[in-house]
Amino acid sequence: MIASPASLPTVTGPCQLRVERDVDAVAAHVAGRLLQALEQDAVLGLATGRTMEPVYAALRQRLKALPPAQSVLVLRRWRSFNLDEYVGLAQDHPQSFAAFMQRQLAGPLQLPGGCLQIPDGRAADPAAEARRYGAAVMAAGGLDLQLLGLGSNGHVGFNEPPCSASEPSRCLVLSHATREQNAAAFGGDPTAVPECAITLGTAEILAARRVLLVVTGAAKAQILRRALQEPPSPEVPASWLQHHPQLEVVVDQAAAAALVFS
Ligand code: GLP
Repeated sequence: MIASPASLPTVTGPCQLRVERDVDAVAAHVAGRLLQALEQDAVLGLATGRTMEPVYAALRQRLKALPPAQSVLVLRRWRSFNLDEYVGLAQDHPQSFAAFMQRQLAGPLQLPGGCLQIPDGRAADPAAEARRYGAAVMAAGGLDLQLLGLGSNGHVGFNEPPCSASEPSRCLVLSHATREQNAAAFGGDPTAVPECAITLGTAEILAARRVLLVVTGAAKAQILRRALQEPPSPEVPASWLQHHPQLEVVVDQAAAAALVFS
């Protein structure tokens, strides 16, 4: 089902909302979008988190199904920047986002070194690393397509509330809600989740030429409704996406349950 912007009266931008039956259908659609972008030589903004695991599995399948000459070309030209990384975790720490990307994409697809970029969580000066990373995104010409998940408190990347629409790439302290959300990867203990992270800001995210927000599961239904159907506010950083001129939102029926359709 594709909902037209007109059926979401409180969404201010030209948002395209696509409600798929389930997680697999969401993953298939999003993988198709990513593949399309890769074939057009796009600079991708990539995300981590449980929402992305089926998406990346579907993308791996799609890439492996390509004729070898075509997939070699796509993989050789791959350019992506991840959204964020925990401060203090080395690339090979199993819970780092760098290790997540290695398991999900870089390893299985044998991506050439350096084409999948991610902030260095072990940089001696995390604030300087965040500035360097934001500048690297801009030096690459900005992001053509930014893939986003949605935090349970409305964050995108690690832009924690309250957050304006023009925050730069930076190092910040994670909220308790986020450390709880991500505790499962750290043995269920929120205090084991690193206290700080480096994230691309809302400024770089909103500057992406296209944004693809992916949300699945009933637990995200209320925060998705607030992000899309309440006036944009610092309390829900994802709500700033309503201003984006090229926003596609892909959700499953469970996540769409609280949306109001007229
Ligand atoms: C994490 C990441 C986000 C991710 C979000 C949702 O903390 N920083 O980039 O999109 O939270 O995670 P999940 O997909 O596991 O629910």
